[in-house]
Amino acid sequence: MEMKNYFHMNDGNGELSYSQNSSVQARVWLMNQSLLENAIQSLITSKDSGLNIADLGCGVGNVPLGLVSFLVEIMQKKSKELLKLDNNDDQVPQLQIYMNDLPSNDFNSLFKEMMNLDVLKKKDDDGVPLCFLMGAPGSYYDRLFPNKSLHLVHANYSLHWLSKVPPRIYDDQRMSINKGNIYISETSPAKVGRIYRDQFEQDFTLFLKSRSKEVIANGCMLLTLRGRPSSTNPLTWTTFEFKIFTKTLASLVSEGLIKEEKLDTFDFPCYCATKEQLESIAKKEGSFEVETSKTMVVDVAPEIEDKWERAQVITKIIRAFSESLVSSHFGEDISTLLYDKLVHFANQHLVDDQLAQNHAVTVLLRKK
Ligand SMILES: C[S@@+](CC[C@H](N)C(=O)[O-])C[C@H]1O[C@@H](n2cnc3c(N)ncnc32)[C@H](O)[C@@H]1O
Repeated sequence: MEMKNYFHMNDGNGELSYSQNSSVQARVWLMNQSLLENAIQSLITSKDSGLNIADLGCGVGNVPLGLVSFLVEIMQKKSKELLKLDNNDDQVPQLQIYMNDLPSNDFNSLFKEMMNLDVLKKKDDDGVPLCFLMGAPGSYYDRLFPNKSLHLVHANYSLHWLSKVPPRIYDDQRMSINKGNIYISETSPAKVGRIYRDQFEQDFTLFLKSRSKEVIANGCMLLTLRGRPSSTNPLTWTTFEFKIFTKTLASLVSEGLIKEEKLDTFDFPCYCATKEQLESIAKKEGSFEVETSKTMVVDVAPEIEDKWERAQVITKIIRAFSESLVSSHFGEDISTLLYDKLVHFANQHLVDDQLAQNHAVTVLLRKK
């Protein structure tokens, strides 16, 4: 089944929602604010230069809300500077923001929360809103916008999600060549790492090709993905979530609560790339210049000292982004049991490895 038909972060604003459990994504986003501000400054050259900005894979919660407030504030700051230069004219650059995600995203919650933002209530002296907000449902692997219509593309923690589980993970009989695993792992055949890498290259290239038609010359893309450190082995490196997820599923199989075949046909449709991989794919595709790239590392819930409590927070974070995948494959009934068990393995992981870390990679690209 294609991701775009069912995949979404957990809805609403409750305890298990993505809104309440996206602190890691928000912290990484904050680390890139100055890059974003500089990119925007470089795009506003005169008071006539309105901006069309798209947030791709916007989800819900703190990041899209923070992004819209931040963008309006930067535009206001820039407008004041421009007015000082030309005080005979009070025209200010206008801002249009498109929020994109798959149709199964909780757009209702997103737009309800957005409408409470003070910045979206602000109007200029003629009563015109400072920011026009639009919804743009669809997959960013397809075309989403008209030719040459965007000045800036922003994507935070979304592009590591592939368009699908790489089909070559399964043989002709639909049997997995990565038995007992749900992503690349130390026990996966080397072929598995290459298959995931190829799928990512194919998807990211398609993404760049689609955006190359939509972004104007000199326009920017600030892309931040879940990634991995540059020095790691792409054929074996995995994240702590995949380690504990695999242990949890294996334990449910041994208790007879999940059939082994069901586990063997479950694989995560995502890939953790290095910044060098992003740069190399962008160079090969050829439409964008790489201006900057970096790798960041954040500890998950470092402020919580109690290990058991931290394991619970980590599990809710994992649940918020993975539950739609779990429920659609294993059924909704197993979901709560699975995540209750996952807490124990998360706690065990914290004892073994001390830290639960997220690596993120960022590239700033400029359209040639
Ligand atoms: C981890 S969330 C990030 C949400 C938000 N940008 C943030 O930083 O909190 C990833 C988002 O990417 C979206 N996504 C995944 N694949 C997508 C695709 N092909 N097209 C559009 N959105 C996609 C998911 O639905 C999800 O909302």
